[in-house]
Amino acid sequence: MNKWIVGVALLISQISLAQVRVVTELTDNWKFKKGAQALASQVNFNDKGWQKVQVPHDWAIYGPFDKEIDKQVVAIEQNNEKVASEKTGRTGSLPYIGEAWYRNEFTLPHYKKGQKVLIVFEGAMSEPKVFVNGQKVGDWAYGYSYFYFDITNQIQEGKKNTLAVQLSNQGQSSRWYPGAGLYRKVQVVVKNPESIDQWGTFVTTPYISSALAKVNVKTKASGENVRLVTQVRDAKGTTVAIDSTGKRFGKEFEQNLAVANPQLWSPETPYLYTAVTKLYVGNQLKDEVTTRFGIREISYKSSVGFSLNGKVRKFKGVCLHHDLGPLGAAVNKAALRRQMQILKDMGADAIRSSHNMPSMEQLELADEMGFMFLAESFDEWAKPKVKNGYNRFFSEYAEKDVVNLVQATRNHPSIVMWSSGNEVPDQWGAEGVKRAKWLQDIFHREDPTRPVTVGMDQVKATMASGFGALLDIPGLNYRTHLYEEAYKAFPQGLILGSETASTVSSRGIYKFPVEKGIEKQYPDFQSSSYDLEYCSWSNLPEDDFVLQDDKPWVIGEFVWTGFDYLGEPTPYDDKWPSRSSYFGINDLAGLPKDRFYLYRSRWNTNQETLHILPHWNWAGREGQTTPVFVYTNYDSAELFINGKSQGIQKKHNATPQTRYRLMWMDVKYEPGTVKVVAYGKDGKPAATQEIKTAGKPYKLVLQPDRTQISADGKDLSFVTVSVVDKDGNPCPTATDQLTFSVKGAGSYRAACNGDATSLELFHLPTMKLFSGKLVVLVQSGEKAGDIELEVKGKGLQTGELKLKAVK
Ligand code: GAL
Repeated sequence: MNKWIVGVALLISQISLAQVRVVTELTDNWKFKKGAQALASQVNFNDKGWQKVQVPHDWAIYGPFDKEIDKQVVAIEQNNEKVASEKTGRTGSLPYIGEAWYRNEFTLPHYKKGQKVLIVFEGAMSEPKVFVNGQKVGDWAYGYSYFYFDITNQIQEGKKNTLAVQLSNQGQSSRWYPGAGLYRKVQVVVKNPESIDQWGTFVTTPYISSALAKVNVKTKASGENVRLVTQVRDAKGTTVAIDSTGKRFGKEFEQNLAVANPQLWSPETPYLYTAVTKLYVGNQLKDEVTTRFGIREISYKSSVGFSLNGKVRKFKGVCLHHDLGPLGAAVNKAALRRQMQILKDMGADAIRSSHNMPSMEQLELADEMGFMFLAESFDEWAKPKVKNGYNRFFSEYAEKDVVNLVQATRNHPSIVMWSSGNEVPDQWGAEGVKRAKWLQDIFHREDPTRPVTVGMDQVKATMASGFGALLDIPGLNYRTHLYEEAYKAFPQGLILGSETASTVSSRGIYKFPVEKGIEKQYPDFQSSSYDLEYCSWSNLPEDDFVLQDDKPWVIGEFVWTGFDYLGEPTPYDDKWPSRSSYFGINDLAGLPKDRFYLYRSRWNTNQETLHILPHWNWAGREGQTTPVFVYTNYDSAELFINGKSQGIQKKHNATPQTRYRLMWMDVKYEPGTVKVVAYGKDGKPAATQEIKTAGKPYKLVLQPDRTQISADGKDLSFVTVSVVDKDGNPCPTATDQLTFSVKGAGSYRAACNGDATSLELFHLPTMKLFSGKLVVLVQSGEKAGDIELEVKGKGLQTGELKLKAVK
């Protein structure tokens, strides 16, 4: 530490600790009621009979599923449909429509008259109207936006304050399950009049060398005669740079701090610094804000591509909807962390928040765990996709929504690109070109450091109109046949696969004969896990792999989707009871489908992948052709059925599939053992894997993702339940009805089996296995202790598991 730093540090420690900001998350004490409630905004309203809930909360996830909910008789234009038909599960068939109210009484013991109070919402589904102590303080529209109101004039010192929030969701307002309610954090911020503005800090790292990084910190603050001291701390908390300034232009301070030998942020090394900004009047500390950031350099260049910290790389990304399967839209950090761990294991390094603002929790995890993030804003601009979609709000809100998105999230090193829209119908027409430019300029104004893309599906139209040419990054959704043409037509010299694949499959379900198919339908409303089925507008994973591997100007891909999500049950949009997607690489429960291993074999370059499909329980198919596929990072392998060789397969360039999968198309089924021996580059056996025909379901086996969770009332352990035969072989077709009970320091939260046609409710403690598996979510209470989970099924040995909740 140099002398100057020591001097300032001493000065800071001598200052008596004045009261700085206090941020309170409103989690408990919420009362909730569905339906219109006259006078519920009032302080003296009687809400005694209302349901007690915790926020984040999704009122619709408790169901029941109902075919009639949001039934839409429409032709989905994005899917090339010309004739309207009845779409039942499009928004998940869950009761998200209608009005509802939340009320919360809170006290702010630390608040002193004269201070400033803000209420901050990180998302409210949707069209929120907010009242404090009986007075309306503001409203918003888009359910995915972050927003805040100044409630200084409404707050009472030393007394209870009443917050009331009215929400309303219209039918036909979404193309997927949007969730309903206060599904993200709500916070009250109390601060001094001399304070840093909400989202008023902007940290960038405009110069980086191995010896030195320049950290630029812009801070907007209110109050007279204020001075700002900013410390940069490394991951251990050691101060590595400090600066103090009293110079302000308008509301903005600007500081440049030098960090020696910077540790760079990347997906492989997610190193984080913090900037602690302290606002003083004289020697009095008035406010303090801590901002986590990373030192990293991004660049997008014609004929070079995307580079991070000087190294060219391609995005190995997935698109994710915001819902968390059985938890609905209610944000939960443990659930997000688990998803991201699964993605890490697959080798993914990037996430696109399709098609809306990500949760803060997801961005925090992306920073910590190392994911590059494409943060998206809208699925619609002024032209509708669904009647009551964002088109109703665009002209009044688009700028405010983008400003809040950028200001609230721009310090996350994980964000490497913005997206102003997804497949917006405004791709057609001159007005749309203007809107694209207008939105991109707003992003640039708020954040000059990151480029903007749009996921385009009307590629020909955007080539003709100039829409695609004006974007920083042209993003193509599918349309693999147009990549080459778009690359030549657009001036940027690079193409992003902003949305790719949309292959459909159901975990553990295989259909015969094994052949490619477009929007294939079967009587059980499932799609085949041979991974050969896709949509009229989409393609198979390998069509993207070829472009990614052969075209240096393609800068990566975001696969549709990392996990299944509620709603949009293509190819069964009009088939009841399909109510969730089939696109996921992992199912709605987070269990990997076979496709997981196809991506893993390519993306996870540190670990071996050797995966056999299908399962080998085909009673009744004896002697029939039952192809076997192997997804592996090895180039060749030999297959054995009951010890008999089926020959060696080697990856080769005949078709995109033969280039990336090993396929034995003529295998005849006989029960027993399927064994694969993979060969290394030297031609010697390098790894083996086998699966066996299972006998009768015998015993339940429980496998938690974590055995120890935190006793904070929110943490979750995800327990995979499977059924095995007497010899421990997984029974891949079992559909037994199971029941769950949790005792001790936790509770049963939900279950999910990944079956897109299941109408069983997630929160009830019973569910059928699907393809031999399901996942039970166990939630901690607020006290430390042991938690016991018991899973029972008729005629099956009970599964028992001990977990621990710790403080
Ligand atoms: C895309 C769209 C996604 C999803 C996907 C399904 O066109 O952007 O939101 O609908 O198709 O394949």
